[in-house]
Amino acid sequence: MAHYTGLIDKYRDRLPVAADTRAVSLCEGATPLIELRNLPALVRKKVRILAKFEGLNPTGSFKDRGMTMAVTRAVEEGARAIICASTGNTSASAAAYAARAGIACFVLIPEGKIALGKLSQAMMHGSVVIQIRGNFDDGMRLVQEVAKAQPVNIVNSINPYRIQGQKTIAFEVIEALGGPPDYHALPVGNAGNITAHWIGYSESAGADTAALRLPEGMRNYRKQKMVERRPIMLGYQASGAAPIVRGRPVENPETVATAIRIGNPVSWQQAVAASRESGGWFAECTDEEILRVQKLLAQTEGIFCEPASAIAVAGLLKDLELGKVGEGSTIVCTLTGHGLKDPDVAIAQSAKPVTVDAELKAIEGVIRQHLPKT
Ligand code: F0G
Repeated sequence: MAHYTGLIDKYRDRLPVAADTRAVSLCEGATPLIELRNLPALVRKKVRILAKFEGLNPTGSFKDRGMTMAVTRAVEEGARAIICASTGNTSASAAAYAARAGIACFVLIPEGKIALGKLSQAMMHGSVVIQIRGNFDDGMRLVQEVAKAQPVNIVNSINPYRIQGQKTIAFEVIEALGGPPDYHALPVGNAGNITAHWIGYSESAGADTAALRLPEGMRNYRKQKMVERRPIMLGYQASGAAPIVRGRPVENPETVATAIRIGNPVSWQQAVAASRESGGWFAECTDEEILRVQKLLAQTEGIFCEPASAIAVAGLLKDLELGKVGEGSTIVCTLTGHGLKDPDVAIAQSAKPVTVDAELKAIEGVIRQHLPKT
């Protein structure tokens, strides 16, 4: 088998790159699709749930799929610097790919509201980290203003190449399952990812979609029909940051899932188009529901995702309970980011370590106390 060199090399004929374009890549993509073994029985549902674990990308989130495309194109266009607003993961990914490409990177993040792991990544990769006294939506607005006057290339998902890279997740799911799932559930923040998933599924089904905004000169990659149908898309937002569910922007979004702490998503319209065309819906989960399922995934499946990612499963479990998703279904949940991104939230909700003297007796005491009963 040929050495895997990243998603641009793998899907070159389905992405807006030339045959000789040199990819700026960290071998992103090709993430595992892990079948949940214990959770369906635990909630007493006869369904097949598979987690597409995007936390196993090079910088620990799905953002790397879009970033390899955006930075590859930026370099081709001769950009000296990239810029993004971020709740954390985009900044981590942009910083890493900029380092790889040898260009400068500026990131705007909301002060005090990004997870520690993500901040450490942006700093370690040498990007210029600008903390703003404001939220992600303020940052998004500022980035668009500043890019009008400064020689910086925006790598947020309003950059169409980001969406193009991210659509490859649908290709991988179809390859792994031999076809699309019945449902695909994922978190919705700035709404680029649900749009990208839908474009990927639509292209695979040879179908058009209003979610696709083609900039001048970019081809529509809708090709021959590779699959017969597309899945129903389920988009979940945190209750304190649920503009699409509510149908209006949220001025001061708040949620423990800081990755999706967004009140006015840039790809709102495309996400609504995707959802509508698929026959799907948007729904919300509370912070308590998100954290409960994050822990459940970690402790019953061994999968440690970040809070924002857990909402895909939390929302699905609610919709299964409501009967909106029927038994017998196959559902893929995108787990967008790794749990290590946000150690503070993980530690705060877990059992504390026990501290004992360095003696055999003390250790045995702890073991006896915690050993499962036979
Ligand atoms: N999950 C995680 C872990 C994220 O980091 C994000 C977005 C989403 C879900 C939502 O995806 O925005 O395409 O709807 N994070 C962006 C960032 C906003 O700056 O890292 P979306």
